[in-house]
Amino acid sequence: MAKKTVQLQGEYTKRQTQADIALARDDVRRLLYGGAKGGGKSFFLCVWMFCYAWEIAARFGLKTTKNPLHIGWMGRKQATDFTATTLQTWRKTIPEEYYELKGGTEKDPKHILIMNRVAIDYGGLDRQESINKFNSAEYAVIALDQAEETTKDDVSVLQGSLRLTIQGQALPYKELYTANPAACWLKDEFVTNCPVGNVFVPALPADNPYLPDDYEKTLTDAFGYRKELLEAYLHGNWASIEGARQVILDSLIERAMKMPTLLGGKVIACDPARFGDDKTTIKVLEGSEIIEQSEMGYSRTTDISDALTELSRRHNNCQLVVDEIGVGGGVIDELHKNGRRVIAFNSSEKADNPEKFVNKRAEAWWELAEHFAKGEIGCRNMTKELRSQLTTPCYDFRNGKIIIEPKETIKERIGRSPDDADCYVMGIWAVKRARPEMQYANAGQPSKTYSNNILTRGLQRRTA
Ligand SMILES: Nc1ncnc2c1ncn2[C@@H]1O[C@H](COP(=O)(O)OP(=O)(O)OP(=O)(O)O)[C@@H](O)[C@H]1O
Ligand SMILES: [Mg+2]
Repeated sequence: MAKKTVQLQGEYTKRQTQADIALARDDVRRLLYGGAKGGGKSFFLCVWMFCYAWEIAARFGLKTTKNPLHIGWMGRKQATDFTATTLQTWRKTIPEEYYELKGGTEKDPKHILIMNRVAIDYGGLDRQESINKFNSAEYAVIALDQAEETTKDDVSVLQGSLRLTIQGQALPYKELYTANPAACWLKDEFVTNCPVGNVFVPALPADNPYLPDDYEKTLTDAFGYRKELLEAYLHGNWASIEGARQVILDSLIERAMKMPTLLGGKVIACDPARFGDDKTTIKVLEGSEIIEQSEMGYSRTTDISDALTELSRRHNNCQLVVDEIGVGGGVIDELHKNGRRVIAFNSSEKADNPEKFVNKRAEAWWELAEHFAKGEIGCRNMTKELRSQLTTPCYDFRNGKIIIEPKETIKERIGRSPDDADCYVMGIWAVKRARPEMQYANAGQPSKTYSNNILTRGLQRRTA
């Protein structure tokens, strides 16, 4: 066995051994190693692919060559995600004296050259050019990390490439998929129905002794408020995950519409029109209650800032939060000139908790979802439209962090821009971070939750 001749650090966990044994069986072609987060899936994928390549080289006595045989492919839906995550696991795990990473050329895609004898191509299924290449490729093995991100169609072309022969002999053709539970094609093909030739091996954090001791607590803190998510990510339960990609559940909004707000503070939120067909949305929030709201069609930034200034004066000079992307930047500058206190919200900026969220947009949506789930949001005058928009976005994971469906994708999906919901979400995010005037004026050090930009502008205003 190749594993005995190469010195890899550590040993497989029991589950990884189970997956390895299953894949070695002649009657097993496809394996889903899938379950909770941190179950050791990516680690297994890298080590197993390396061993497979090594075994082929040994079995056929392949010599070092300038034109090595490309025996397989591994990747993720997005090539950039593969490079940022799985390839890093590979580099951490496989000793560098055994391989070389090669960039793509006209002739060859990016690949890992193993002992100058065989190569494994790698990348993503996100580009048509690379998918077209699979039509002519001949592989023996494919491995997809986070395969729940892919569609059945993405994978079919890849599956069609499994026809490599060496010295006239067929090879043990294998497909390895790793995934977190999701309502996707893998569930049908491996979990609910599992035809002959397919095997499902669950991967759980509890099976992985290499994780930090408090990892399960980290997962419980992150997903505890949604039972089905915790079931999926901690216990690898595929049954519970159906439809769970929706960030905010309608049933929780229904409850919130009968409750008083538990959040305090007042803020005026404004999402200025960004594209031709969007409208400028303005909401005055008292905690999570909407006490006043209005819309503006296409307007100049000065019209928006004047309207907001007037509104803020009417509401006891209360603080404003404005989406600063696009025309928002101009609106914010003018509000400062008008002596208003403004928090700039930039959805693509780093989150306050960057370990957990890809950006501020994800943080703001997820925090609101948590408040709904904990019964902390009361919103008796929520409109039908806002309710519908709040239940539209889906979440996903990117490199282990939560990401929320971008506004543009939602717009394509539902045919209109979810401005109402974005404005409300931003308002709730800000209401928790807004400070009363006195505290703000006396503030010494900038709080982490304020962007430095804004504080600097605020200070300039006060010293002017
Ligand atoms: N057999 C092993 N020996 C040493 N370390 C391991 C082993 N299996 C997993 N690990 C380590 O455990 C941690 C989690 O493993 P890995 O990243 O493979 O999990 P995962 O299931 O891919 O997680 P995610 O769902 O977040 O993608 C990593 O630090 C990895 O290096
Ligand atoms: Mg992984």
